[in-house]
Amino acid sequence: MNQNFNAYSQYYDLLYKDKDYNAESEYIKNTIRQYKAQAKTLLELGAGTGKHAEILTEFGFSVTGIERSADMVSIAKKINNENLEFHVADITHFKLENKFDVATSLFHVISYLTENTALINTFKNVHNHLNEKGLFIFDVWYSPAVYHQTPEKRTKKLKSDSLEITRYATPEIHTNKNLVDVNYKIEIEELSTHKITEFEEKHPMRHFSTPEIELLAISTGFKLLHSEAFLTKEKPSIHTWGVCYVLEKI
Ligand SMILES: C[S@@+](CC[C@H](N)C(=O)[O-])C[C@H]1O[C@@H](n2cnc3c(N)ncnc32)[C@H](O)[C@@H]1O
Repeated sequence: MNQNFNAYSQYYDLLYKDKDYNAESEYIKNTIRQYKAQAKTLLELGAGTGKHAEILTEFGFSVTGIERSADMVSIAKKINNENLEFHVADITHFKLENKFDVATSLFHVISYLTENTALINTFKNVHNHLNEKGLFIFDVWYSPAVYHQTPEKRTKKLKSDSLEITRYATPEIHTNKNLVDVNYKIEIEELSTHKITEFEEKHPMRHFSTPEIELLAISTGFKLLHSEAFLTKEKPSIHTWGVCYVLEKI
């Protein structure tokens, strides 16, 4: 599998500084409370720099984050919080001592699993790490919206006190694989010297339909409880890029 988020991780928090982690964490807390009111322990898959995890501890959860990028984990580990821990691990094959009430995987992490075997292994792994009737909550790219809207070239510019970052995203669509390769070219300008450095990363993203998720759930020991648009809670449609699924361990 493509190992991305290498150079990207240094700039991740700046690139997503406008992302509303508070609102998203509140949404996840409410979703957990709706389906498993007593849940306390949470496993976060692809925890990134630990932003959701940190906020979720404020709602009373103790959170264990696993994340493949060692650079992301080293940023997450700087958060000083006794109800948080992070491990460098691949979600397709990890083994922890504990079991959890809930597993979450937020901001399209599951869409980074482009192979069927990686998906099946991850879902089985999550199943092994959940307590009885534990929940698995994740958001993914939604095939009906991807086909309807078609990914486009995008440019994003962000500035900190010392840097200006420009990210060019060029999608390459692989219709017969339910995949979009997002080719990122990143330019970083140091504002004091005007020195520009560049790098490129390819992020292959898979999109899913609800019957596909349901099939995956049934074949790995889960049942699909619910699906809705991430954050807005609307019924998934051709306008819904990110759909949130709630699965329960059978
Ligand atoms: C878009 S980021 C989301 C990070 C974080 N959840 C957030 O919301 O900021 C996707 C993350 O998934 C991680 N990831 C992708 N595939 C993974 C795998 N197989 N095992 C562990 N982490 C993975 C990447 O390293 C990256 O940190």
